[in-house]
Amino acid sequence: MKIRIFANPHDAGIYAAALAEVVVAAKSRPVLGLATGATPTVFYDALVNLHRCGLDMSPVVTVNLDEYIGLPTDHGQSYHAFMQAHLFSRTNLAPENTHVPNGMAADLAAECARYDDVIRRNPIDLQVLGIGVNGHIGFNEPDDLLLSRTHVVQLRQETVAANARFFPRMEDVPRRAITMGVQAILQAERIILMAFGEEKAEIVARAVLGDVRTDVPASILQLHRDVTVVLDLQSARLLPEGKAGSAREGY
Ligand code: GLP
Repeated sequence: MKIRIFANPHDAGIYAAALAEVVVAAKSRPVLGLATGATPTVFYDALVNLHRCGLDMSPVVTVNLDEYIGLPTDHGQSYHAFMQAHLFSRTNLAPENTHVPNGMAADLAAECARYDDVIRRNPIDLQVLGIGVNGHIGFNEPDDLLLSRTHVVQLRQETVAANARFFPRMEDVPRRAITMGVQAILQAERIILMAFGEEKAEIVARAVLGDVRTDVPASILQLHRDVTVVLDLQSARLLPEGKAGSAREGY
């Protein structure tokens, strides 16, 4: 794993967007795997800036990690709405090239199978990930086993609690989601894992330095050969000096 530590999320977002631009420029039909949450917003802002400076997003295909079950796509907190607001509506991405699981599907098993097919037809060149406070990636929650394929997940209590900041009342927070499985994530050519803030310091240290464990889903990224971990000083606080030091020299 390559670790890059920045003074602040803004600088980190610019770096991640520059990595994405390299991938976009290298392919005729680049596929970006995308994440939601507060963390990647700096990445989207920087990517939008690159687009305004001339980066053509029209050939780009996007495949999102996950979506809540039961929120209509036009609900302000749906991941469909998040992606529209932070990226899709601000670039020349073609709507037919953007993919987000349908959390309103009547047949959720069929929707999972359909989404696996989308992933199969669009192999991911670069997957952007955040990390939950409990180590989840996408909505692959800590468990005895990690599921390979797209699946319906019952969100853990700590995840529901973390997501509650985006909803007016606790009872409005979705309890279930559809998420890409770990196979699709690990099959991405390159991965960027982003984490910012003191509250992510402990889980970042466990994911990056600890053993590979299904109760720390992000630790599975240690098995991938091209992962860049993009941090700010706070989220990197528990990494040993050596690691942080060498990474600091690197930017
Ligand atoms: C949600 C998303 C994850 C994301 C996580 C962290 O649970 N499904 O993909 O990484 O939140 O969110 P934040 O970046 O807001 O801390």
